[in-house]
Amino acid sequence: MALVLSFALFACADFERGPGPVPPDTATVDTGSSDATDDSGGGCTPGDYATEIYPLLQLSCDSCHSSSGSAGSTGLVFSGSADDDYAAISGLIDTGNAASSVLVKKAVGSGHGGGAVFSAGGEEEAALICWISSGAPQ
Ligand code: HEC
Repeated sequence: MALVLSFALFACADFERGPGPVPPDTATVDTGSSDATDDSGGGCTPGDYATEIYPLLQLSCDSCHSSSGSAGSTGLVFSGSADDDYAAISGLIDTGNAASSVLVKKAVGSGHGGGAVFSAGGEEEAALICWISSGAPQ
């Protein structure tokens, strides 16, 4: 029972960080996966949203996810403005469970009308997961 409780506490500890200052004692808590199988996850450095993450998505996805594309009526339509599109992108992610985010799942072809755009386990998927698990900083 104690074990279950402390796991639950740990699991919700640090994923709801807002943009405000982070108290020093929680700043050292590992925000990544705490799985023994994933030692590197918590230590990743997220790519910058506007200059790395957004261009990665836009270049790979806007052939369909644009207003005139085949995915133009979905919740993900790239306008070309990283700022304007942040709301749509952040609505498709789960910072507490990055790898299961709709954005990531669809990108690697899981239940996606556009198929596998990124390969599962590849660099692009890892970059997305790192950014999301870091709280998806804009
Ligand atoms: C070849 C065309 C095509 C490409 C390229 C493509 N998609 Fe899609 N995508 C679709 C279609 C069609 C749908 C609607 C059917 C579905 O939900 O899978 C869709 C749906 C989605 C959805 C669901 C949106 C919602 O409102 O629920 C997400 C998220 C998504 N795609 C992410 C991506 C990402 C991320 C990329 C780039 C890495 C990408 N897609 C590239 C065709 C594409």
